[in-house]
Amino acid sequence: MTDFHQTDEPQSGETIAIITTNKGQMKLRLFPELVGVAAENFIELAKQGKYNNVPFHRVIKNFMIQGGDFTNKNGTGGHAASGKGESIGDVYDPRLRHIRGALSWAKTSAPNSIGSQFFIVHAENGAHFLDHPPGGHSHEGYTVFGQLYEGFGTLDSIAETKTDGRDKPKEEIIIENVEINYFTYMKTVFNFSAGPSILPKQATEEAKAAITDFAGTGIGILEMSHRTKPIEGMVAETESLLKELLSIPEGYEILFLGGGASFQFCMVPINLLGTDSVADYTDTGLWASKALKEAKKFGKVNVVCSSKDSIYNHIPKTFEQTPGATYLHVTSNNTIYGTQWKEFPKANTYLVSDMSSDILSRPIDVSKFGLIYAGAQKNMGPAGVATVIVRSDILGKVERDIPTMLDYRTHIPEKSMFNTPPVFSIYVMNRVLHWLKNLGGVAEMEKINAKKSNLLYDALDNSKLFKGTAAKEDRSTMNIPFVFREDAVAADKKESLEKDFLKTAVEKGLEQLKGHRSVGGFRASIYNAMPIEGVEALVAFMGEFEKKVFG
Ligand SMILES: Cc1ncc(COP(=O)(O)O)c(C=O)c1O
Repeated sequence: MTDFHQTDEPQSGETIAIITTNKGQMKLRLFPELVGVAAENFIELAKQGKYNNVPFHRVIKNFMIQGGDFTNKNGTGGHAASGKGESIGDVYDPRLRHIRGALSWAKTSAPNSIGSQFFIVHAENGAHFLDHPPGGHSHEGYTVFGQLYEGFGTLDSIAETKTDGRDKPKEEIIIENVEINYFTYMKTVFNFSAGPSILPKQATEEAKAAITDFAGTGIGILEMSHRTKPIEGMVAETESLLKELLSIPEGYEILFLGGGASFQFCMVPINLLGTDSVADYTDTGLWASKALKEAKKFGKVNVVCSSKDSIYNHIPKTFEQTPGATYLHVTSNNTIYGTQWKEFPKANTYLVSDMSSDILSRPIDVSKFGLIYAGAQKNMGPAGVATVIVRSDILGKVERDIPTMLDYRTHIPEKSMFNTPPVFSIYVMNRVLHWLKNLGGVAEMEKINAKKSNLLYDALDNSKLFKGTAAKEDRSTMNIPFVFREDAVAADKKESLEKDFLKTAVEKGLEQLKGHRSVGGFRASIYNAMPIEGVEALVAFMGEFEKKVFG
């Protein structure tokens, strides 16, 4: 584990406490092992008002610490150790190292009496004399840390215990209305990963809380049986939220199944495609080609169109469907190549669609589809669950003997609970759906997505260095691949410049921008949860990089 204590900056994930008082704010790093130990006690006590009206330390600058104990006949300084630091009260200060150094000799005894330890903080705003409180006198830095803040007695009472009159505190500040909030410090990072990908912060925070206490039950969601009311209720609510958000008409069933979207590549034809029947598949990308390859194992597949020869840079729109085909399969958004069906083709029968990378990004007319499936790990939640929306009247038409777990009809009456479902993944989805609903639903989301993607596409179209790779009319609002323009970067410089772009991007907190190997260059996945600020930051960085290249 990283030694967080040795770094001057808080680490992502570290807990920070912000103590707000009538005298201003103090930020403290609470190292992971401290939370729940001394610092927690302090926070709890402060919440109970124990520190209200108690003389409290102000933020101290340019400090030096000395420690001693009263066992020395002459009073202070007998076992003195010292350390220096620049500030107390800044999140970024290295003070704890020094404090630890200064107090590593500390021993246990009663406070404010002969034999007790103390330390003195000499600071630019006065010397402060702090008692060493009872209990937990470990030599470990973290205990000392807790003590430092728990140990603020009144300066008067400490002054009484001084034997030699030195280091008399120069000032006393009454701190009132202590309010403590703590939060997890997160480095500002914009995650452009294609999946698993960025999720709404609110949803992950809620999910985090549920790990230890789900719905006020006192039991963590990971430890709770799926056959309990709270979980059954949550799954049912997730289903109804999805129904509402996608305006799913009557006659459709919603399932949450394990195995991801790839599992649906076989489950779809097993359930829908008779051995001697034909299904039409559109070949618009790698995932589409995987889906059709799998379907060939269970029936006849007619690949009605393909853009493979042009590295899937567009959606072929004119093609003939096979008369009598059972269904027409489309991949609504091609994650790798950044193309998207803007208008779905009209199927002779019904459409089946893999919507893994753009579900919930825009309104869709579900009634055109016999079946929709989507892995959750882009717009809906974490990996581990796939959502299936199926019109029940298309099931039961094939003659094969379908293994129980592979049969949609097993899961429908069981409400996705035939076996243990991926409860936690469904719960995160539940929180994401709430977030989306509060935001205004998919119609609002579509507008936001248009704004975000237009911002990036405009930047690409006006750039002398970069260009998008997908045909303009088919451009995805979710995944945006881009490369260096051939006329801007010589072939032998391309690789090193790409590396430079990606490395500098990471330094700026712009993560996961590497393109898929089949397209090269870069890809920005800007799913629903990507805030517009992320796209703005990327566009600004691309502009800076372009300036650097052209001088
Ligand atoms: C469009 C599409 N379909 C299917 C998949 C495969 O999903 P899973 O890993 O859940 O099987 C992906 C993954 O990126 C995808 O983008």
